[in-house]
Order: sequence, then structure tokens, then C-alpha cells
Amino acid sequence: MSGPNTDYDPVEVAAVQPEEVDAARDAALAAIAAAADLDDLKRVRTDHAGDRSPLALANREIGALPPQARKEAGQRVGRARGEVNQALAARQEVLEAEHAARILVEETVDVTLPTDRIPAGARHPITTGSELIADIFVAMGWEVAEGPVIEAEWLNFDALNLGADHPARTMQDTFWTAGEGGTESGVVLRTHTSPVQARTMLDREPPIYVVCPGRVFRTDEYDATHSPMFHQVEGLAVDEGISMAHLKGTLDHFASRLFGEGITTRFRPSYFPFTEPSAEVDLKCFVCKGVDPASCRTCRGEGWIEWGGCGVVNPRVLTACGVDPERYTGFAFGMGIDRTLMFRHDLADLRALFEGDVRFTTAFGTEL
Ligand code: PHE
Repeated sequence: MSGPNTDYDPVEVAAVQPEEVDAARDAALAAIAAAADLDDLKRVRTDHAGDRSPLALANREIGALPPQARKEAGQRVGRARGEVNQALAARQEVLEAEHAARILVEETVDVTLPTDRIPAGARHPITTGSELIADIFVAMGWEVAEGPVIEAEWLNFDALNLGADHPARTMQDTFWTAGEGGTESGVVLRTHTSPVQARTMLDREPPIYVVCPGRVFRTDEYDATHSPMFHQVEGLAVDEGISMAHLKGTLDHFASRLFGEGITTRFRPSYFPFTEPSAEVDLKCFVCKGVDPASCRTCRGEGWIEWGGCGVVNPRVLTACGVDPERYTGFAFGMGIDRTLMFRHDLADLRALFEGDVRFTTAFGTEL
């Protein structure tokens, strides 16, 4: 700002004259009122309130006035600038509101319009479910193993300590492929995923940590809870010093990753030829959490849900598969994937998983 001007020249300070100030203010107010949008208003602000605007100029020249004229001129210019700034702020508010309202109208999406998108479908819940289960084990450093669904009788039964006359063979009613002239072929549709255990042990040296999801077959009726084709997931760990305690810890972790924190398992004594000791695995009911089972539809009052079988690998199986039972021990488990999905998703009818209705699959999306 310039200091007092001793050589006062009225021409130089014409901008501070009352008429000039009023004219500058009126021009500014008219331009503000006429600004049609925010861009317009921005230009008006620069022209009428910016550093080079007439009122800014007038303000700078107050200092050049003789002292007795400064006060009045200062008030006049200050008032004019105040009015202009107020008008700018008010107009800004109005234009912003108009802008927001216009965007709301212009960018409206009619969500009821028909779509011309071709439905892409969804991955099947058995696929995504198997992957989810495999991921839980891969995260612990396990590997995923696979085997064929058409399997040698020896791998499906004999290697697993189920000889030709073993009474437990009838636990798994088998589809046999026909041999030549109706003779026995020695080839079956695998009745469980356990032959993948045998294949893995025959194939490689311990330590072995594998999980094997896959399709299995039994001569079951096809109804709401049975199917001649279904899915299991097998787990096998063979290493030095493996015990039943590792099995329990692993299954508890598996259960709580799949069903939520605090959902663990319990074992009931059982029998499988390929494990000794053997147990049935129950899952703590993930709905009532075993707290109030009486009214629970999921566990039907039990507090626990039957989940699968497990046990410490029978040394006879280790021997049959080329693993030294003096050095190594192992554990194994097997669960029904379809069954797991049924109670995890509250499906009343198993057949929904197998009938290929895209409306069912889509409801699962690509994630479970
Ligand atoms: N294979 C058994 C079944 O199909 C399940 C199982 C697997 C049991 C591994 C013990 C160990 O019923």
C-alpha cells in the first residue's frame, strides 16, 4: 500500500470518487446476479473482486488521499467491497445448490429398466466349496492331491486294509466296471477319496501333507439326502511323530476356519480298516453353538453335527504303500463336501447340488 501522497493529484485518485465506487459496485452486483453458472461466477469474481478489479484498485489508492479524506473513502470502498463479497457468497450458494440438484436429475439411473446383459452364470458351489476347503489347508502348507475316479480295486480297498473278504467292504456298496465276458474287472468307481492316500504314499516320500477333494460313487438311492455320486475331501499327514493330537488340532482349525471362531470338533470311537484308532468326527453346531440345542433346526437338538471319519493311519496301510511304520506315523480324515455344503447353507435337498439349475448356482455367486 502506498504511503501518504504529499503531491496529491485528484486525477490519479479518480477511482476513489463516490460515483466511481458506486458504479464499480453496481457493475459487480449486476454481473453477479447475471452469472448463470459456477464457471461464470468464477470469472465475475476475478473481474470484480480480484486484485485487478476497480474496487481493489480504489482500495489501494485510499492511501494516496490526503489524511482528512481517507476515512470516508475507506468506509465507502470497504462497504462496497463487503456488499460485493456478500453477493458473491450468496450467489455461489445458490448456484452450488442448483448444480447439485441438476446432477441428481441428470445422472439418475432407472434401476427398473430391463437389462440386455447375457447372464454369465456362476461357478458351482461344489467347485467353490472344494476350493475354499483346499485353501484352508494350503494356508497351512499342505498340498492338493488328485486321483482318478475310475480306480483299481487294489487301491480303493486292498491297500487300505480292506481285503476281498473284509466285512467292511459292504459298508461301501460299489459300482464295478464290467470285465471281459462279465468277469470281474478289478476296476471300480472309487467309493471314497482314500485311494488318493495310497497313491500319494506310493508316489513320494514323507513328510506328506495332502488334501484331496474329489468325486466318489456308491450304489445309493437318489433322494433328498443320498446320491450315487457325491464329493469327499480326504486329508493325509504322514511324518515323524504324528499323533492323534495333531489330527484333533488340525480338524479343530479346519472347523473354525470353515464355520467360525469357536466351532470345534469332538471324536467318537469308530472303526475304519485303514485307521487305528478310528473316530467319527462331529462338528459343534455352528448355529446354536451347542448352547441351546433343544430348539435348533440345524443340529436337531444334538448340539453336534456328524461330519466325517478320521483316525491314525493303520501301520498295515503304511506298509502296503511303502512307508516305514517304524519311522513314520500319520493321520487321515474324510468328510462329505456336499453334506458340509448342505448344512453350511441350510439346503433341504441334496439334489439341488446336482440338477444343474442355473438359478440355484447363481444364488451362490462366485463366492460362498
Ligand atoms: N474313507 C472314509 C469314508 O469314506 C472316511 C475316512 C477317511 C475315515 C480317512 C478315516 C480316515 O467313510
